[in-house]
Amino acid sequence: MHFAARAERIEPFYVMEVAKAAQALAQQVAHTDQPMIFLNIGEPDFTAPPLVQEAAARAVRDGATQYTQALGLPALRERISQWYADRFGVQVPARRIVVTAGASAALQLACLALVDEGDEVLMPDPSYPCNRHFVSAAGGTAVLLATTAQERFQLSAAKVEAAWGPRTRGVLLASPSNPTGTSIAPEELRRIHATVQARGGVTLIDEIYLGLSYDERFGHTALALDEQVVSINSFSKYFNMTGWRLGWMVVPEAMVPVVEKLAQNLFICASTVSQLAALACFERESLAEYERRRAEFRARRDFFIPALQSLGLAVPVQPDGAFYAWADCTQAAERLGVQGSWDCAFAIMRAAHLAITPGRDFGTADTGRFVRFSTANSMAQLEEAVARLRRVLA
Ligand SMILES: Cc1ncc(COP(=O)(O)O)c(C=O)c1O
Repeated sequence: MHFAARAERIEPFYVMEVAKAAQALAQQVAHTDQPMIFLNIGEPDFTAPPLVQEAAARAVRDGATQYTQALGLPALRERISQWYADRFGVQVPARRIVVTAGASAALQLACLALVDEGDEVLMPDPSYPCNRHFVSAAGGTAVLLATTAQERFQLSAAKVEAAWGPRTRGVLLASPSNPTGTSIAPEELRRIHATVQARGGVTLIDEIYLGLSYDERFGHTALALDEQVVSINSFSKYFNMTGWRLGWMVVPEAMVPVVEKLAQNLFICASTVSQLAALACFERESLAEYERRRAEFRARRDFFIPALQSLGLAVPVQPDGAFYAWADCTQAAERLGVQGSWDCAFAIMRAAHLAITPGRDFGTADTGRFVRFSTANSMAQLEEAVARLRRVLA
């Protein structure tokens, strides 16, 4: 069978290969004294709070399951707009908010609306692998720019300027980032956006982890910069609703009809049940629960990062958000008698029954040296993970 070149261009998601191997091993060790611990999964261990669950059940019971408008339920767009005002002090009119089937659909819509065949989009290495594939699915090319710990593993204006070419369409950033949990310094983001604007490009920023920010210096939305920024967000991470497939994007006014047309054709709308349920995310009780959980994520970070450092798994930049640790495994690989992060992740999996993610998916620059731990797991599991790592790396 002949497959489109576009599909061939997309690399496999190696995280899933590791997850498959981890699942297979998990079955073998399920009844031992060391059942598998999963720190490879990038999703909250929490589920939607009670009011959200009840709202979903009510929607199903009432048969409120017809399509919504392609741009999303007006009431939900209003609630999201209010959330920006309350949480970030930024006025984002509901008419610029488009509700989507997760950040994934938002990223696809943004790329289809903005990227032409042959266009280039600059993004940091390391970064979330699907982001470069959204660009290539739209016919563009993701240009990965190697980043350093000094740059918080993010792009700088100088780097964007140096890499800008005749086919560059813009930048696709993520702040806080997956896999590093680090955000772009606000002053650097301002400079990057100015550089992009000066060249007639577009700044796309994936703010899916912004709700899970632990540092006042970084926890601001890029939407405060101006109305030209395209921001992607989701109910998956802060709102703990990964499988509900609901997200949103904020776009410049002129882009709304273009995205609407694409969304009508490609998706019709995001899940109606999920949209009706998500209205309850913004009730006082739900928001209080989300804030308690954010504090729990922060406590996990505060326990886990120093523990990794003490084991020789250096985390060069303290994550200020999300639930990841991007750790240099050079020393650990040496101890385990293997080379590189791919083999190191598998060696840790076998020796400690601990699933983690090798750097390979996230880029090419320095990813052979790094592994990603997800701290979206209970404190008890994180403590056990550290104890096992201590035993195998001692
Ligand atoms: C940086 C980043 N962007 C987008 C996504 C996709 O999220 P969603 O579940 O909203 O489609 C993820 C999921 O892990 C992510 O880490």
